[in-house]
Order: sequence, then structure tokens, then C-alpha cells
Amino acid sequence: MMSMFDPAPYARRRACLISQMRRGIAVIPTAPEAARNGGTHYPYRFDSHFYYLTGFDEPEAVLVLVAGDAPQSILFCREKNREREVWDGFRYGPDAAKESFGFDAAFPIAQLDEKLVELMGGQPALLYPVGRDAAWDTRLLGLRNRVQEKARSGVSAPDEIRDVRVALDEMRLIKEGAELVVMRRAAAISANAHVRAMRAARPGRMEYEIEAELLHEFCASGARSPAYPPIVAGGGNGCVLHYTGNSAPLGESDLLLIDAGCEVEGYAADITRTFPVNGKFGAAQKEVYEIVLAAQAAAIAAARPGRRWNEPHDAALRVIAQGLVDLKLCSGSVDSVLESESYKRYYMHRTGHWLGLDVHDAGAYKVAGEWRTLQPGMTFTVEPGCYIRAADDVPQALWNIGIRIEDDLAITADGCEVLTEVAPKTVAAIEELMKPR
Ligand code: GLY
Ligand code: MN
Ligand code: MN
Repeated sequence: MMSMFDPAPYARRRACLISQMRRGIAVIPTAPEAARNGGTHYPYRFDSHFYYLTGFDEPEAVLVLVAGDAPQSILFCREKNREREVWDGFRYGPDAAKESFGFDAAFPIAQLDEKLVELMGGQPALLYPVGRDAAWDTRLLGLRNRVQEKARSGVSAPDEIRDVRVALDEMRLIKEGAELVVMRRAAAISANAHVRAMRAARPGRMEYEIEAELLHEFCASGARSPAYPPIVAGGGNGCVLHYTGNSAPLGESDLLLIDAGCEVEGYAADITRTFPVNGKFGAAQKEVYEIVLAAQAAAIAAARPGRRWNEPHDAALRVIAQGLVDLKLCSGSVDSVLESESYKRYYMHRTGHWLGLDVHDAGAYKVAGEWRTLQPGMTFTVEPGCYIRAADDVPQALWNIGIRIEDDLAITADGCEVLTEVAPKTVAAIEELMKPR
């Protein structure tokens, strides 16, 4: 944890959630550690909801919020343990955590069950991430039963159980200024990594060598982890949407599709660029690339406050459908291609998703059955693509062209900010960057 840590934004978010709860108790556990194999764990990643409300990044921690006349925010965490700290490093312990993170109280995690039985008594509602983890469902319902057993002494158990994520997801959907600052940094580091990858690519190199360039740039810039496993996909591998093998050699006339972004202080960037391994687009590659780029431009133009969530997707889709007709990959009018969904053979995913602490971030896309209206502070990706596999009914010149162009956007008062624009994406800018020097 950095010494310049400011607990105030987290305290504000806790107060905001407590006021929305009105009455009741909320229990928000962080993520468990995950074993990788005998004696080793995956690098630890906290739970996004827990972190959003605490800024606390140690495992084995639970936040408890009590709403009502005497609101409280209480942390349960690991105790200080000099011996474990010799092996694993610093841990706050309840006293220092309470002080540094601004909780009203903090207790050892081992006391959680006993304290929860006390704290739940008389509360009308229990809120937690219902159904996310079966072990927590069982544990919390078991504790609620223990409160119920005290009914004869006049103690009541919560008779209402609600999912705390309903309110939290809505809060996370609109990013605060401080969150945008961090997201800009994640975006800039990731964009620089794509530039580095373009400079490093050449025929005969292996996909994993380019992956190494990306990871080097992330880590050397202070972003210790990618936000998701990087996709480094040469040639036909670019048509495999979740390809992460990253183990094939790059061919002379291949395109290389890279989908990679880093995580900074928990916030993700998510960028895709597609470029020719030899630095010069072939004619057919360029033709398809320009369609996807125009689709992306149409989507970005529709990303404005007051527009609906589906408008960027619909705008991109129309351009792609027209492009597929022009390429003779789809027949009929653009409207009939859209109506029959014949475009789905080549463009089978949607054009974006909310972005934040999670790569596919929290927040509903529809409200009361209607696509959500875009508002300042919403952040999301815009990522149209076109994936043409080898097939008898497809001209050979188009085989194995897999293209996606993905940027990260923040809605502003009068349009949007493209957080990732440092990564080149026009044909001219990519070819210029990749020129041999
Ligand atoms: N990299 C994951 C995605 O683009 O959604
Ligand atoms: Mn994405
Ligand atoms: Mn992506």
C-alpha cells in the first residue's frame, strides 16, 4: 500500500452505500487466495466490490456495514503476526487498518462469526453478494439461523435478504475523477505496450516473443499484472476470439491481432490492435481493416451523453454489414443482412462492455427493459471486429483475416474521451511506426 493512500474516497463510498441501504447490515468479503499447485498461489487479486469500498488489498478480510441510526463501517482482517510477516511481508492488523483506512472499528477475522451474530440481531435486512459463492451463502444463512435461535430472548434475525451488488454496481458504473485518473494511467501504459509490440513484430518471431514485449512494458511501468491473459494471435489465430496459446510463429504475410491491457491499482485497460507482421497491409487486409476502422469511428461518434448503450453497437454493426455486402461475403441489402443476422458468421460479438475494476465491469446494460442512457463518467470499450476463416465459399484472398480494433472510452459532458488513443490505428500511422529504421 502506498504511503500517499487517501482513505476519504472509500469512506465516502461506504457512506453512500449505507445511506442507500437505509436499514440493515451488509457483509462484503474480499476474494479468497487461489492455490496454483502444491505450495504456490496465483498472484493475489482482491474482490472488486470490497476494494471499491475499502482500498484494502490484503486477503482474508471482510467489510461489514451497519445502516440505521448508528451507522458503522467495520473491517475484519488478519491479525499482526511477526512470524508470518517474516515469510509473507507486512500485514496491517486490525488496529493499524482501522487507523489508516478510516473504519469505525476493526477486529481479527477469526472473530467474524461471533460478531456477526451480535450485529445481525435486530437488523431487518441482510445484504451480501447473494449466490456468488456457495460457501458464503451457507455461512451467512447459518449465522442468521443462530440469531433466530435467540428469538425467545427477544432478538430478531433479518427477515429480508438482498443482493448488495444491486446498489454497488450502480455506484461503480459512474467513475469518479480519481478513478478516471487511474484508468488513464492503465490506458497509457497499455497503449505504449501496443506501440512496443508493433515495433518488435516481424516475420519469423513467435507470438510469445511479442507477448513478452507487452508484459515487459506493463511491469517496467509499474503495472505488475495484465488485466486479463493477453491474446497475441497471428494469421488465422486472430479468428479465435479467446486465443491465448500465443505459441505460433508469425508468417510473412500474416496480420497480428493483439488484445492486451494492464491493471493499475485494480483498474483495467482493454486494448486491441491488429497490424501486418511485415509492417505493410496487403490489399485485402487493408480493405477489411478500413471497414472495421470505419465501424469503430461510427461507434465512437455515437458514444455521447444522452445516447443509449446500444447506439454505438448499432452504428458499428451497420458499417460492418455494409462492408460484408461490399466484400460479397453477405448477400442482399444491408437491412436484410441485419435482419437475418447473416453478419454473425464474421462478427459474432457485441461492440463493447463497461470497463473499470473488472474488465467486464459492473453495471446493468438495461434499466426497466430499456437500453441504458449514456452519462458522463461511464467508461466502456468500443471493439468492433471482423473474422474471416478459410472456407470454400470465401475468396482465398480473405482467408485468415481476423481484425479487431478496441479502445477505451469515458463519456464526458459533451462527448467522449478516448483513453487509449496513443496506440496507432490508422493504416498510415501503423505503417509509419513499423517502417524499418
Ligand atoms: N479482452 C477482453 C475483451 O475484449 O472483452
Ligand atoms: Mn473488451
Ligand atoms: Mn479486449
